[in-house]
Amino acid sequence: MDKALKALVAGGAGFLGSHVCRRLLAQGYSVICLDNLQTGRRKNVDVLLSNEKFRFVEADVRDPLPFDNYAEIWNLACPASPPHYQADPVGTMLINVIGMKNVLDLAVQCGARVFQASTSEIYGDPEVHPQGESYRGAVNAIGPRACYDEGKRAAETLCFDYHRHYGVEIKVVRIFNTYGPNMDPEDGRVVSNFIVSALAGRSLELYGGGSQTRSFCYVDDLVDGFFCLMRSDAAITGPINIGNPGEFTVRELAEIVLEMTGSKSGIVDRPLPKDDPLQRRPDITLAGSLLGWSPKVPLREGLKKAIAYFEAESGIPAPVGMAEDSVRQ
Ligand SMILES: NC(=O)c1ccc[n+]([C@@H]2O[C@H](COP(=O)([O-])OP(=O)(O)OC[C@H]3O[C@@H](n4cnc5c(N)ncnc54)[C@H](O)[C@@H]3O)[C@@H](O)[C@H]2O)c1
Repeated sequence: MDKALKALVAGGAGFLGSHVCRRLLAQGYSVICLDNLQTGRRKNVDVLLSNEKFRFVEADVRDPLPFDNYAEIWNLACPASPPHYQADPVGTMLINVIGMKNVLDLAVQCGARVFQASTSEIYGDPEVHPQGESYRGAVNAIGPRACYDEGKRAAETLCFDYHRHYGVEIKVVRIFNTYGPNMDPEDGRVVSNFIVSALAGRSLELYGGGSQTRSFCYVDDLVDGFFCLMRSDAAITGPINIGNPGEFTVRELAEIVLEMTGSKSGIVDRPLPKDDPLQRRPDITLAGSLLGWSPKVPLREGLKKAIAYFEAESGIPAPVGMAEDSVRQ
């Protein structure tokens, strides 16, 4: 097999990883998807099994990884939703440290370029706004989110040490909140929670009054950014922010979802979880200047596709269909 066209995707059965697998196959790559299915779903990749260039391996990134002549290793293996990564905090930290080390050791052996899915959580509860890559963050190292935030920070450190000491080509992306098809409806992220609750006629739970802000990126835009970075000149290592700078309060998101689904669900207030960041918006100047990338899909357009996906997943149609301009009573 031509090394130039072989990729390992760790975490490939998850939301983002399954989109990466699909995109690589479309580009003619042979793809080995390695996933322990902790939060990923076989159904995300079963549709790819008919492609003879696709193989699924159920394995843990914390165990030694299968050697092959990979040109690229994409590391997306890590639960991303707080309920999941906090359920096994020690495991989460080790996925990011041991798993990252295994990926980088394999890259040293086969000379592969490494993609690391890092996160805006690196910035913690930020004191600067919007967050640029030079901001070093304000993470609580001992709080309930630290297993993820500090784990991802350690993974970035490993990437840069392997780059400096062993010459591994690295591409580190800091991902901001992303949504779209192949999300697990039950995995506890804000966009999926709101849409699934609205469709089911359940109240939307708003934490801490919903005044905290987030930026929401549609998955196709994000994956475009991944590929711009992964195929860029070797000198471009990142870290680089990829996300949509449109900023909304969580309450605004809830209201838009209720309007677009035509749901009669109410909104209930819940206490703000510890260390929940109050504001989040990417500065994407670097992605624009280095990669020529910027997001294209506005929030309502992306939500329309996401609602259609969650309707199909849950089997519950939105009460008034997909009338984007429907007005909530
Ligand atoms: N989706 C987002 O908004 C977002 C934001 C920031 C960062 N990220 C990062 O992007 C990556 C993918 O996130 P996602 O949204 O697709 O989450 P996801 O939970 O859907 O996907 C993660 C995948 O990794 C797999 N996995 C977890 N632990 C593993 C292990 N020990 N060995 C092998 N596989 C393992 C899971 O089974 C799952 O398929 C993660 O690293 C996450 O931290 C995502």
